[in-house]
Amino acid sequence: MHPRAQCSAESLAEQAAAAIASSGIAVIEQFLPDDAIAALRTEAQRLRAEEAFRQAGIGAGGDFRRHDDIRGDEILWIEPESAPAALQQALAAFEGLRLAVNRELQLGLFDFECHLARYAPGAGYKRHYDQLRDDNRRQLTVTLYLNEHWQAADGGTLRVFLDHDEARTLEILPTGGTLVAFLSERFAHEVLPCTRERFSLTGWFRRR
Ligand code: OGA
Ligand code: MN
Repeated sequence: MHPRAQCSAESLAEQAAAAIASSGIAVIEQFLPDDAIAALRTEAQRLRAEEAFRQAGIGAGGDFRRHDDIRGDEILWIEPESAPAALQQALAAFEGLRLAVNRELQLGLFDFECHLARYAPGAGYKRHYDQLRDDNRRQLTVTLYLNEHWQAADGGTLRVFLDHDEARTLEILPTGGTLVAFLSERFAHEVLPCTRERFSLTGWFRRR
Protein backbone atom coordinates (compact mmCIF):
# COMPACT_ATOMS: atom_id res chain seq x y z
CA MET A 1 0.00 0.00 0.00
CA HIS A 2 1.26 3.47 -0.74
CA PRO A 3 1.99 5.29 2.52
CA ARG A 4 -0.34 8.11 1.50
CA ALA A 5 -3.24 5.67 1.29
CA GLN A 6 -3.29 5.82 5.08
CA CYS A 7 -3.61 9.62 5.10
CA SER A 8 -7.28 10.42 5.26
CA ALA A 9 -8.71 13.08 2.99
CA GLU A 10 -9.52 14.95 6.16
CA SER A 11 -5.94 15.08 7.39
CA LEU A 12 -4.73 16.23 3.95
CA ALA A 13 -7.30 19.02 4.10
CA GLU A 14 -6.03 19.98 7.57
CA GLN A 15 -2.47 19.94 6.28
CA ALA A 16 -3.43 22.21 3.36
CA ALA A 17 -5.33 24.60 5.63
CA ALA A 18 -2.34 24.89 7.98
CA ALA A 19 0.00 25.68 5.06
CA ILE A 20 -2.43 28.30 3.70
CA ALA A 21 -2.67 29.86 7.16
CA SER A 22 1.10 30.15 7.47
CA SER A 23 2.16 31.03 3.92
CA GLY A 24 -0.97 31.64 1.86
CA ILE A 25 -0.34 28.64 -0.37
CA ALA A 26 -0.41 24.85 -0.08
CA VAL A 27 0.91 22.19 -2.44
CA ILE A 28 -0.25 18.68 -1.57
CA GLU A 29 0.84 15.69 -3.62
CA GLN A 30 -1.54 12.75 -3.95
CA PHE A 31 -4.45 14.72 -2.59
CA LEU A 32 -6.66 12.05 -4.17
CA PRO A 33 -5.75 8.40 -4.85
CA ASP A 34 -4.54 7.43 -8.32
CA ASP A 35 -7.74 5.60 -9.23
CA ALA A 36 -9.86 8.69 -8.52
CA ILE A 37 -7.49 10.83 -10.62
CA ALA A 38 -7.58 8.27 -13.45
CA ALA A 39 -11.40 8.31 -13.39
CA LEU A 40 -11.38 12.11 -13.52
CA ARG A 41 -8.94 12.11 -16.41
CA THR A 42 -11.01 9.59 -18.35
CA GLU A 43 -14.12 11.68 -17.76
CA ALA A 44 -12.34 14.87 -18.87
CA GLN A 45 -11.15 13.11 -22.04
CA ARG A 46 -14.66 11.81 -22.72
CA LEU A 47 -16.18 15.29 -22.32
CA ARG A 48 -13.49 16.73 -24.52
CA ALA A 49 -14.24 14.12 -27.23
CA GLU A 50 -17.89 15.19 -27.00
CA GLU A 51 -16.77 18.75 -27.71
CA ALA A 52 -18.12 19.98 -24.40
CA PHE A 53 -15.13 22.26 -23.76
CA ARG A 54 -15.07 25.89 -24.93
CA GLN A 55 -12.14 28.20 -25.53
CA ALA A 56 -11.67 30.23 -22.34
CA GLY A 57 -11.75 34.02 -22.29
CA ILE A 58 -10.82 36.79 -19.91
CA GLY A 59 -13.19 38.80 -17.75
CA ALA A 60 -16.82 38.08 -17.02
CA GLY A 61 -20.20 39.07 -18.40
CA GLY A 62 -20.03 42.01 -20.79
CA ASP A 63 -16.31 42.28 -20.12
CA PHE A 64 -15.62 38.83 -21.56
CA ARG A 65 -13.09 38.61 -24.38
CA ARG A 66 -11.22 35.81 -26.04
CA HIS A 67 -7.47 36.27 -25.93
CA ASP A 68 -5.67 33.16 -27.08
CA ASP A 69 -2.30 34.90 -26.74
CA ILE A 70 -2.89 35.46 -23.01
CA ARG A 71 -4.95 32.43 -22.14
CA GLY A 72 -4.94 29.30 -24.31
CA ASP A 73 -6.99 26.81 -22.33
CA GLU A 74 -10.38 25.31 -23.10
CA ILE A 75 -12.75 24.96 -20.17
CA LEU A 76 -15.95 23.26 -19.10
CA TRP A 77 -17.80 24.74 -16.12
CA ILE A 78 -19.10 22.10 -13.71
CA GLU A 79 -22.40 22.29 -11.89
CA PRO A 80 -21.59 20.59 -8.57
CA GLU A 81 -25.21 19.42 -8.14
CA SER A 82 -25.24 17.57 -11.46
CA ALA A 83 -21.53 16.76 -11.79
CA PRO A 84 -20.59 13.37 -13.30
CA ALA A 85 -19.90 10.61 -10.75
CA ALA A 86 -16.16 10.73 -11.49
CA LEU A 87 -16.05 14.25 -10.08
CA GLN A 88 -17.91 13.57 -6.84
CA GLN A 89 -14.89 12.41 -4.86
CA ALA A 90 -12.91 15.51 -5.86
CA LEU A 91 -15.82 17.81 -5.03
CA ALA A 92 -16.25 16.11 -1.65
CA ALA A 93 -12.53 16.54 -0.95
CA PHE A 94 -12.78 20.21 -1.94
CA GLU A 95 -15.69 20.60 0.47
CA GLY A 96 -13.51 19.10 3.22
CA LEU A 97 -10.86 21.67 2.31
CA ARG A 98 -13.41 24.49 2.50
CA LEU A 99 -14.42 23.46 6.01
CA ALA A 100 -10.81 23.03 7.18
CA VAL A 101 -9.81 26.44 5.77
CA ASN A 102 -12.80 28.13 7.37
CA ARG A 103 -11.86 26.62 10.74
CA GLU A 104 -8.23 27.64 10.36
CA LEU A 105 -8.50 31.08 8.71
CA GLN A 106 -12.08 32.35 9.17
CA LEU A 107 -12.28 33.36 5.51
CA GLY A 108 -16.02 32.72 5.42
CA LEU A 109 -15.68 30.62 2.29
CA PHE A 110 -19.23 30.08 1.22
CA ASP A 111 -19.68 28.72 -2.27
CA PHE A 112 -17.61 27.19 -5.01
CA GLU A 113 -17.33 27.52 -8.76
CA CYS A 114 -15.14 25.21 -10.81
CA HIS A 115 -14.23 24.12 -14.29
CA LEU A 116 -12.27 21.41 -16.00
CA ALA A 117 -9.49 22.88 -18.10
CA ARG A 118 -7.55 21.50 -21.02
CA TYR A 119 -4.39 23.06 -22.38
CA ALA A 120 -3.53 21.81 -25.85
CA PRO A 121 0.17 21.52 -26.71
CA GLY A 122 1.51 25.08 -27.01
CA ALA A 123 -1.13 26.61 -24.75
CA GLY A 124 -0.38 28.50 -21.53
CA TYR A 125 -1.83 31.28 -19.42
CA LYS A 126 0.17 34.47 -18.91
CA ARG A 127 0.75 36.07 -15.51
CA HIS A 128 -2.54 37.04 -13.86
CA TYR A 129 -4.53 37.24 -10.65
CA ASP A 130 -7.70 35.21 -10.22
CA GLN A 131 -9.88 37.87 -8.63
CA LEU A 132 -12.09 39.50 -11.25
CA ARG A 133 -11.90 43.25 -11.70
CA ASP A 134 -15.39 44.06 -10.40
CA ASP A 135 -15.90 41.14 -8.08
CA ASN A 136 -13.67 40.25 -5.13
CA ARG A 137 -15.65 37.27 -3.90
CA ARG A 138 -13.00 34.79 -5.05
CA GLN A 139 -10.87 34.05 -1.98
CA LEU A 140 -9.16 30.74 -2.52
CA THR A 141 -7.99 29.19 -5.78
CA VAL A 142 -7.70 25.39 -5.93
CA THR A 143 -6.30 23.33 -8.78
CA LEU A 144 -6.14 19.57 -8.93
CA TYR A 145 -4.03 18.12 -11.74
CA LEU A 146 -5.10 15.07 -13.70
CA ASN A 147 -2.03 14.19 -15.78
CA GLU A 148 -0.28 10.85 -15.80
CA HIS A 149 3.54 10.67 -15.71
CA TRP A 150 4.14 14.38 -16.19
CA GLN A 151 7.82 15.25 -16.81
CA ALA A 152 9.55 18.62 -16.46
CA ALA A 153 10.21 18.47 -20.22
CA ASP A 154 6.44 18.46 -20.81
CA GLY A 155 6.30 22.11 -19.67
CA GLY A 156 2.98 23.34 -18.31
CA THR A 157 4.54 24.40 -15.02
CA LEU A 158 2.42 26.57 -12.75
CA ARG A 159 4.66 29.45 -11.64
CA VAL A 160 3.43 31.31 -8.57
CA PHE A 161 5.00 34.68 -7.75
CA LEU A 162 5.50 34.71 -4.00
CA ASP A 163 6.23 38.40 -3.59
CA HIS A 164 5.49 41.56 -5.49
CA ASP A 165 8.98 42.11 -6.86
CA GLU A 166 8.69 38.60 -8.32
CA ALA A 167 12.12 37.56 -7.07
CA ARG A 168 10.81 34.39 -5.48
CA THR A 169 8.64 31.91 -7.31
CA LEU A 170 7.20 28.51 -6.65
CA GLU A 171 7.10 26.16 -9.63
CA ILE A 172 4.66 23.27 -9.62
CA LEU A 173 4.43 20.48 -12.18
CA PRO A 174 0.85 19.48 -13.07
CA THR A 175 1.33 15.90 -11.92
CA GLY A 176 -1.86 13.89 -11.47
CA GLY A 177 -3.10 14.09 -7.87
CA THR A 178 -1.21 17.25 -6.96
CA LEU A 179 -3.38 19.93 -5.39
CA VAL A 180 -2.40 23.59 -5.28
CA ALA A 181 -4.47 25.99 -3.18
CA PHE A 182 -3.67 29.65 -2.62
CA LEU A 183 -5.21 32.95 -1.60
CA SER A 184 -6.62 34.34 -4.85
CA GLU A 185 -5.90 38.01 -4.20
CA ARG A 186 -2.37 37.46 -2.92
CA PHE A 187 -0.54 35.64 -5.69
CA ALA A 188 0.00 36.42 -9.35
CA HIS A 189 0.72 33.25 -11.30
CA GLU A 190 1.15 31.90 -14.81
CA VAL A 191 0.98 28.60 -16.66
CA LEU A 192 4.01 28.04 -18.86
CA PRO A 193 3.26 26.59 -22.28
CA CYS A 194 3.00 22.80 -22.28
CA THR A 195 4.17 20.40 -24.95
CA ARG A 196 1.47 17.79 -24.32
CA GLU A 197 -2.19 17.87 -23.42
CA ARG A 198 -2.68 19.13 -19.84
CA PHE A 199 -5.87 18.62 -17.82
CA SER A 200 -6.88 20.10 -14.48
CA LEU A 201 -9.90 20.72 -12.31
CA THR A 202 -9.72 24.32 -11.09
CA GLY A 203 -12.08 26.16 -8.81
CA TRP A 204 -12.56 29.10 -6.54
CA PHE A 205 -14.09 29.30 -3.12
CA ARG A 206 -15.97 32.54 -2.72
CA ARG A 207 -17.28 34.51 0.17
CA ARG A 208 -20.75 35.96 0.03
C1 OGA B 1 -6.47 29.50 -13.88
C2 OGA B 1 -5.07 29.08 -13.59
C3 OGA B 1 -3.53 27.30 -13.13
C4 OGA B 1 -3.17 25.94 -13.60
O1 OGA B 1 -7.23 28.71 -14.44
O2 OGA B 1 -6.81 30.65 -13.52
O3 OGA B 1 -4.28 29.91 -13.25
O4 OGA B 1 -2.09 25.46 -13.19
N1 OGA B 1 -4.75 27.76 -13.66
O5 OGA B 1 -3.91 25.33 -14.36
MN1 MN C 1 -5.32 31.63 -12.38
